[in-house]
Amino acid sequence: MSEAILKVSSLHKYFDDLHVLQGVDLEVQRGEMVCMVGSSGSGKSTFLRCLNFMEQPSAGRIEFNGKAVGRESAETRDGAPTYTYDERELVRLRTHVGMVFQQFNLFPHMTVMQNVMEGPATVLRTGKEEAGKRAKENLEKVGLLEKADQYPSRLSGGQQQRVAIARALAMKPDVMLFDEVTSSLDPELVGEVLNVMRDLSAEGMTMIVVTHELGFAYHLAKQVLFLHDGVIHERGTPDEVLKNPQKERTKGFLAGFTDFYF
Ligand SMILES: Nc1ncnc2c1ncn2[C@@H]1O[C@H](COP(=O)(O)OP(=O)(O)OP(=O)(O)O)[C@@H](O)[C@H]1O
Ligand SMILES: [Mg+2]
Repeated sequence: MSEAILKVSSLHKYFDDLHVLQGVDLEVQRGEMVCMVGSSGSGKSTFLRCLNFMEQPSAGRIEFNGKAVGRESAETRDGAPTYTYDERELVRLRTHVGMVFQQFNLFPHMTVMQNVMEGPATVLRTGKEEAGKRAKENLEKVGLLEKADQYPSRLSGGQQQRVAIARALAMKPDVMLFDEVTSSLDPELVGEVLNVMRDLSAEGMTMIVVTHELGFAYHLAKQVLFLHDGVIHERGTPDEVLKNPQKERTKGFLAGFTDFYF
């Protein structure tokens, strides 16, 4: 039986008067990969950032494993419930939700190994030996164990991004969020990062992936979401959304991808 690990209801996010997310609903089952597409500025990054509370939602409910994050307040906004958040709860939650960005953000003064050990050692207070063992396992998983003692500047963009994935995995997250992680890579390096993500999904990791790699989304996603005007304008299986979109906006967006073959 499937089990929702994440449930988002009526998520709204304002930046001052800018109403970026206007009631987003999403349910993700454990082990599922969801891909999100949408034009620049449509709020994809904001959505992911709300899921790990780097941004606080303006309204709406986010549940992990059946439990709502935060405490529901008396007021509603745009017809959605609002919540107050306790920073300690958010710190704990962020350890369960890994995120990888377009820019790898590795610490330049630390070796690959130290980068991957940093989170468990400082946030989870994992002992050095255990953190080291876990770092090696995760570097092995992304195929970079032999680079453990190198500094990030000596690695290719694709390798740096794989280290960033290993670093997020070292926290043993329940969910991984990927925000256009291949967008700043040279084309020949994109595949090695997508392969790591494909393997991770095959192992059962729950993943929400914002990407313009439509072939990847088509072949691997369980659901595809098209974010537009602050809402999920169209959603469904990869065949439904990417091959047979029903709405004009979705068709228009996809028409811009000339190099996409199924
Ligand atoms: N911290 C912020 N303060 C004010 N406005 C913001 C902030 N972050 C994002 N925005 C605005 O919210 C809107 C959505 O931005 P977001 O980065 O989520 O879009 P996106 O879909 O990820 O775009 P892209 O494909 O270019 O990465 C944009 O208009 C952006 O300018
Ligand atoms: Mg973005």
